[in-house]
Amino acid sequence: MRFLLALAVVMLSAPAWAQAPLSLEGAAAPSPWQRYRDWNKTRWDNYNTLANPNRTPPHGAEIVIEQVTGDPGKGRTLAFDRKRGGGCLACHVMGPGTPETPGNVGPDLSEIGKAGRTDQWLFNYVYDARVYNPRSVMPPWGKHGFYSEAEIKDIVAFLKTLKTPARFANPLDDPAKRPKPVEDRDALDPFVNPAADHIGTGKRLFVQACASCHATPEATFKRWAVEMPRWEPRLKKVLGVEEFITRHARATSGKDWLMQSSENTDLSVYLHSLANGEAIEVDLSSPEAKAAYERGVRLADLKVGQFDFACTDCHGQAANKWIRGQWLGEPRGQFDHFPLWRTSRNQIWDIRKRFQWCNVQVRANELAPDAVEYGDLELYLRKMNEGQKLMAPNIRH
Ligand code: HEC
Ligand code: HEC
Ligand code: HEC
Repeated sequence: MRFLLALAVVMLSAPAWAQAPLSLEGAAAPSPWQRYRDWNKTRWDNYNTLANPNRTPPHGAEIVIEQVTGDPGKGRTLAFDRKRGGGCLACHVMGPGTPETPGNVGPDLSEIGKAGRTDQWLFNYVYDARVYNPRSVMPPWGKHGFYSEAEIKDIVAFLKTLKTPARFANPLDDPAKRPKPVEDRDALDPFVNPAADHIGTGKRLFVQACASCHATPEATFKRWAVEMPRWEPRLKKVLGVEEFITRHARATSGKDWLMQSSENTDLSVYLHSLANGEAIEVDLSSPEAKAAYERGVRLADLKVGQFDFACTDCHGQAANKWIRGQWLGEPRGQFDHFPLWRTSRNQIWDIRKRFQWCNVQVRANELAPDAVEYGDLELYLRKMNEGQKLMAPNIRH
């Protein structure tokens, strides 16, 4: 009864041009937000997040150190240890001893020992490269506590021994020769992509909770998903497909399908699938939408987490390179296929969950899926993908 009354109020107060009823109260995601049970549990409260960018000052002063003495053997072990912050091999080739699948985000350091670098340069570059290059893609290993000063001295001693080009027994180990992955699986074949089955699950939910008001979704919503996210004046934030589902279902059918619940994700899969083949379009005509877009541009460039990475570090400066054995894609071509099945996690992910993973991966606390910042970021990235044709649900590693 309370629900019917609420509905009547929503319908009566709707303006003459039909605006979708939205529940404006409360969060659209579990609140307070708690990280997924099967993810890394560590919190990184001392480092920047997308919502709190002022926790770590950008950089300090160069440390004066004339001669570094250290143990090159220990330094090598540290540099090659993937458990310590991922090790240097994630981004550098380091001489003939380089073990399998190094990355190439950074320069090949195989001959750094005879490149004429001073000890002070090498020490500071590893301690906090930002004293030389404020936009460095290299994490501040010393400043952010990955290695002690003594350990960095050992690493520098090891770097000084590097004087011979790398040799790779297997050409696939050489990041310069490794073929980039091509995604050519048939995303709509349920035998290939388990997410394809969820179109049907989403459709059944739609029939149950939505069809009473929307009899012809195939026609009505043929372009809807490619025109999201959009600035929503009633919420004063960017509204994406999944948050729309939560707030609209709450207002119309009394369902509480929080973002990233299985119902929400399945409905998102279904509604996206209706717009397959349609070109993505982003409406930045209002000043508010334009401002949100511009905030998104800045957020993509903001360094966060213990690793001190911005989205643009990996998907801009380092795009089209290998970080460890993982190929870094460009932002263009990334937005035309969500939600998707992640074979490495055996789950369907919507775009906000991908953002969260890209935060946690750099040891930055993630935000709740309905965070304003993720909306701004989504609007910006979507704009970068304008004109791309939607193909969802898709499948990725
Ligand atoms: C995420 C990628 C990444 C990782 C991991 C990384 N580096 Fe780098 N490194 C770079 C990039 C990119 C540069 C080039 C310039 C820049 O962005 O600052 C660089 C530059 C350097 C330089 C300066 C080279 C020169 O020409 O003077 C040194 C030395 C260096 N890295 C050492 C290390 C060591 C030691 C480690 C491991 C503790 C490491 N790097 C891990 C990305 C990385
Ligand atoms: C009680 C009626 C009612 C129910 C139930 C209902 N809707 Fe709606 N919906 C509306 C109205 C009214 C609008 C605005 C006018 C229009 O677009 O038809 C709307 C609009 C929409 C839009 C386009 C809106 C926009 O602003 O971009 C989508 C998508 C949508 N609904 C999906 C759903 C889904 C999914 C469900 C089930 C969870 C659902 N609706 C349940 C009444 C309803
Ligand atoms: C440490 C590097 C790194 C950072 C920083 C990073 N990502 Fe990623 N991201 C990856 C990797 C690796 C993948 C998986 C490979 C790929 O598709 O590029 C990925 C994938 C993605 C995808 C999905 C690509 C696809 O085709 O399915 C999106 C979208 C994305 N990232 C957005 C972001 C956003 C937004 C940020 C900033 C909040 C960010 N990433 C920060 C490494 C990073």
